[in-house]
Amino acid sequence: MAEQTLQVERLTATLGAEVSGVDFREPMSAEREKEIHETLLKHQVLFFRDQDLSPDQHKAIGESFGELHVHPVLPSRAEEGHPEIVVLQSGPQLPFVADSWHSDVTFERKPPLGSVLRGVLIPDQGGDTLFASTTAAFDGLSDSMQRMLSGLEAEHDGGVFSYIANENQKKDLAKNQATAHPVVRTHPETGRKSIYVNATFTTRIKDMKPRESEALLGFLYTHTIGPEYTCRFRWRTNSIAIWDNRCTQHRVATDDIKAPRRMERVTVIGDEPY
Ligand SMILES: [Fe+2]
Repeated sequence: MAEQTLQVERLTATLGAEVSGVDFREPMSAEREKEIHETLLKHQVLFFRDQDLSPDQHKAIGESFGELHVHPVLPSRAEEGHPEIVVLQSGPQLPFVADSWHSDVTFERKPPLGSVLRGVLIPDQGGDTLFASTTAAFDGLSDSMQRMLSGLEAEHDGGVFSYIANENQKKDLAKNQATAHPVVRTHPETGRKSIYVNATFTTRIKDMKPRESEALLGFLYTHTIGPEYTCRFRWRTNSIAIWDNRCTQHRVATDDIKAPRRMERVTVIGDEPY
């Protein structure tokens, strides 16, 4: 059967698009896969509805981009043979995970290229995910600020996960821990520059006094999440988001902490930022 035409509806002028005409349960042609990858490069985060996927079908989407990552600490479906599928669960007794702005796993030497997040149990309302374009945020800076940031490096730390890590997981965290990444990174595929510091994992800008680093990071965090650089996605069960982790940040809206919510994520290993 011929594949349907891809329909792409933008969420905002900056980033995000809802895509229809795709069923990830069906075999996919190489052309269609390429089309989706190119659409992702253009819109930075893509949303798909009604994708009731098996764990293998979920992993296959990630594998079309590259090798899958196994998170050093977060709970997963490892016991069912799927250590690559991270489980993000929240509810009355469990606080939301990912409730501050971040790109995934930037504390590793080779942070993820991207992630594929699936809504498994979604409340009637609440728990939307917000995304920010760090390329648009970079483009929105003055030439002077862009120049000043361009030579800088910042340290990132996964220690935020230590409170739930056992001894082995702490070793895994340390093993892939990055020393530092450039504050402005260049996207390896589009060549676009982006702000590459985030409020969850970045600890300091190197070769700056603590107050300078704090002030500059604070400015960059606030600047990056301006409404003109963000979009917001309302989940339904079996919705999927695929984002380019190299040029976006995201966070959950913690507006209904009582509603049970379960998300599953696969994450694709990326390149060393430059
Ligand atoms: Fe995340």
